[in-house]
Amino acid sequence: MLSKKIEAALNGQVAVEASSSQAYLAMASWAENQGLSGTAAFLYRHSDEERMHMLKLVKFINERGGKAVIPALKQPGTNFKSITDIFQALLHHETKVTQEINGVVDTCLKEKDYTTHNFMQWYVGEQIEEEALARTLIDKLNLIGNDKGGLYLFDRDLQGMTGMASGKGGANA
Ligand code: FEO
Repeated sequence: MLSKKIEAALNGQVAVEASSSQAYLAMASWAENQGLSGTAAFLYRHSDEERMHMLKLVKFINERGGKAVIPALKQPGTNFKSITDIFQALLHHETKVTQEINGVVDTCLKEKDYTTHNFMQWYVGEQIEEEALARTLIDKLNLIGNDKGGLYLFDRDLQGMTGMASGKGGANA
Protein backbone atom coordinates (compact mmCIF):
# COMPACT_ATOMS: atom_id res chain seq x y z
CA MET A 1 0.00 0.00 0.00
CA LEU A 2 1.31 3.43 -0.95
CA SER A 3 1.54 6.19 1.63
CA LYS A 4 -0.28 9.41 0.72
CA LYS A 5 3.08 11.16 0.26
CA ILE A 6 4.34 8.54 -2.16
CA GLU A 7 1.03 8.48 -4.02
CA ALA A 8 1.20 12.27 -4.44
CA ALA A 9 4.84 12.13 -5.56
CA LEU A 10 4.09 9.44 -8.14
CA ASN A 11 1.05 11.33 -9.41
CA GLY A 12 3.28 14.38 -9.76
CA GLN A 13 5.55 12.27 -11.93
CA VAL A 14 2.56 11.11 -14.02
CA ALA A 15 1.96 14.78 -14.87
CA VAL A 16 5.66 15.34 -15.68
CA GLU A 17 5.76 12.38 -18.10
CA ALA A 18 2.45 13.41 -19.70
CA SER A 19 3.71 16.95 -20.28
CA SER A 20 6.96 15.53 -21.72
CA SER A 21 4.90 13.54 -24.22
CA GLN A 22 2.97 16.67 -25.23
CA ALA A 23 6.15 18.77 -25.47
CA TYR A 24 7.82 16.28 -27.83
CA LEU A 25 4.64 15.92 -29.87
CA ALA A 26 4.71 19.70 -30.47
CA MET A 27 8.40 19.46 -31.46
CA ALA A 28 7.66 16.55 -33.81
CA SER A 29 4.90 18.48 -35.51
CA TRP A 30 7.18 21.52 -35.93
CA ALA A 31 9.92 19.33 -37.45
CA GLU A 32 7.44 17.69 -39.81
CA ASN A 33 6.32 21.10 -41.06
CA GLN A 34 9.97 22.04 -41.68
CA GLY A 35 10.43 19.00 -43.93
CA LEU A 36 12.71 17.32 -41.36
CA SER A 37 11.03 13.94 -41.63
CA GLY A 38 13.72 11.94 -39.79
CA THR A 39 13.74 14.37 -36.87
CA ALA A 40 9.94 14.31 -36.82
CA ALA A 41 9.88 10.49 -36.75
CA PHE A 42 12.41 10.49 -33.89
CA LEU A 43 10.37 13.01 -31.89
CA TYR A 44 7.02 11.30 -32.54
CA ARG A 45 8.52 8.11 -31.19
CA HIS A 46 10.01 9.97 -28.24
CA SER A 47 6.57 11.38 -27.48
CA ASP A 48 5.12 7.84 -27.56
CA GLU A 49 7.81 6.68 -25.16
CA GLU A 50 6.99 9.43 -22.68
CA ARG A 51 3.36 8.31 -22.78
CA MET A 52 4.58 4.81 -21.98
CA HIS A 53 6.58 6.21 -19.03
CA MET A 54 3.37 7.84 -17.82
CA LEU A 55 1.32 4.64 -18.24
CA LYS A 56 3.89 2.62 -16.33
CA LEU A 57 3.43 4.98 -13.38
CA VAL A 58 -0.39 4.96 -13.65
CA LYS A 59 -0.43 1.17 -13.52
CA PHE A 60 2.05 0.97 -10.65
CA ILE A 61 0.06 3.46 -8.54
CA ASN A 62 -3.19 1.55 -9.09
CA GLU A 63 -1.59 -1.87 -8.54
CA ARG A 64 -0.15 -0.70 -5.22
CA GLY A 65 -3.54 0.37 -3.90
CA GLY A 66 -3.30 4.07 -4.78
CA LYS A 67 -5.37 6.13 -7.21
CA ALA A 68 -3.68 7.43 -10.33
CA VAL A 69 -4.75 10.93 -11.33
CA ILE A 70 -4.84 11.76 -15.04
CA PRO A 71 -3.78 15.41 -15.24
CA ALA A 72 -4.90 18.39 -17.32
CA LEU A 73 -2.01 19.67 -19.40
CA LYS A 74 -0.82 23.12 -20.41
CA GLN A 75 -0.20 23.75 -24.08
CA PRO A 76 3.47 23.05 -24.79
CA GLY A 77 5.81 25.53 -26.53
CA THR A 78 5.32 25.52 -30.29
CA ASN A 79 7.62 28.31 -31.50
CA PHE A 80 11.06 26.97 -32.27
CA LYS A 81 13.82 28.90 -34.01
CA SER A 82 15.79 25.94 -35.30
CA ILE A 83 16.44 22.24 -34.93
CA THR A 84 19.24 23.06 -32.45
CA ASP A 85 16.74 25.09 -30.46
CA ILE A 86 14.52 21.97 -30.30
CA PHE A 87 17.20 19.69 -28.95
CA GLN A 88 18.41 22.30 -26.46
CA ALA A 89 14.82 22.64 -25.21
CA LEU A 90 14.59 18.84 -25.04
CA LEU A 91 17.79 18.59 -22.96
CA HIS A 92 16.64 21.40 -20.68
CA HIS A 93 13.32 19.61 -20.23
CA GLU A 94 14.98 16.27 -19.49
CA THR A 95 17.31 17.86 -16.94
CA LYS A 96 14.23 19.10 -15.09
CA VAL A 97 12.62 15.65 -15.37
CA THR A 98 15.74 14.13 -13.80
CA GLN A 99 15.43 16.54 -10.86
CA GLU A 100 11.78 15.54 -10.44
CA ILE A 101 12.69 11.85 -10.47
CA ASN A 102 15.43 12.44 -7.91
CA GLY A 103 12.81 14.15 -5.76
CA VAL A 104 10.53 11.09 -5.95
CA VAL A 105 13.45 8.80 -5.09
CA ASP A 106 14.28 11.03 -2.13
CA THR A 107 10.67 10.82 -0.91
CA CYS A 108 10.82 6.99 -1.20
CA LEU A 109 13.87 6.92 1.07
CA LYS A 110 12.32 9.30 3.59
CA GLU A 111 9.12 7.19 3.65
CA LYS A 112 11.14 3.95 3.72
CA ASP A 113 9.17 2.69 0.68
CA TYR A 114 11.80 0.40 -0.83
CA THR A 115 9.38 -1.18 -3.31
CA THR A 116 8.66 2.16 -4.96
CA HIS A 117 12.33 3.06 -4.66
CA ASN A 118 13.16 -0.07 -6.63
CA PHE A 119 10.47 0.72 -9.23
CA MET A 120 11.87 4.23 -9.68
CA GLN A 121 15.35 2.94 -10.50
CA TRP A 122 14.13 2.20 -14.03
CA TYR A 123 13.43 5.93 -14.44
CA VAL A 124 16.81 6.86 -12.97
CA GLY A 125 18.55 4.71 -15.62
CA GLU A 126 16.31 6.05 -18.37
CA GLN A 127 17.25 9.64 -17.54
CA ILE A 128 20.97 8.90 -17.87
CA GLU A 129 20.35 7.57 -21.41
CA GLU A 130 18.00 10.38 -22.42
CA GLU A 131 20.30 13.17 -21.26
CA ALA A 132 23.33 11.54 -22.90
CA LEU A 133 21.48 11.15 -26.21
CA ALA A 134 20.29 14.76 -26.18
CA ARG A 135 23.85 15.99 -25.49
CA THR A 136 25.24 13.85 -28.33
CA LEU A 137 22.68 15.24 -30.77
CA ILE A 138 23.39 18.85 -29.71
CA ASP A 139 27.14 18.25 -30.17
CA LYS A 140 26.48 16.95 -33.69
CA LEU A 141 24.29 19.94 -34.52
CA ASN A 142 26.96 22.33 -33.25
CA LEU A 143 29.49 20.65 -35.54
CA ILE A 144 27.12 20.90 -38.51
CA GLY A 145 26.40 24.60 -37.94
CA ASN A 146 24.69 26.05 -41.02
CA ASP A 147 25.84 23.33 -43.40
CA LYS A 148 22.71 22.20 -45.25
CA GLY A 149 24.30 18.94 -46.39
CA GLY A 150 25.24 18.13 -42.82
CA LEU A 151 21.71 18.85 -41.65
CA TYR A 152 20.33 16.56 -44.37
CA LEU A 153 22.58 13.73 -43.13
CA PHE A 154 21.68 14.43 -39.48
CA ASP A 155 17.99 14.16 -40.32
CA ARG A 156 18.57 10.95 -42.25
CA ASP A 157 20.55 9.48 -39.34
CA LEU A 158 17.67 10.21 -36.95
CA GLN A 159 15.31 8.44 -39.35
CA GLY A 160 17.68 5.46 -39.26
CA MET A 161 17.85 5.49 -35.46
CA THR A 162 14.07 5.59 -35.23
CA GLY A 163 13.71 2.69 -37.65
CA MET A 164 16.33 0.59 -35.83
CA ALA A 165 14.76 1.06 -32.40
CA SER A 166 11.12 0.79 -33.41
CA GLY A 167 11.17 -3.01 -33.18
CA LYS A 168 12.30 -2.96 -29.56
CA GLY A 169 9.09 -1.77 -28.04
CA GLY A 170 10.85 1.54 -27.58
CA ALA A 171 11.66 2.56 -24.03
CA ASN A 172 15.08 3.93 -24.57
CA ALA A 173 15.13 7.34 -26.15
FE1 FEO B 1 10.26 10.04 -19.29
FE2 FEO B 1 12.15 11.72 -21.00
O1 FEO B 1 11.59 11.22 -19.35
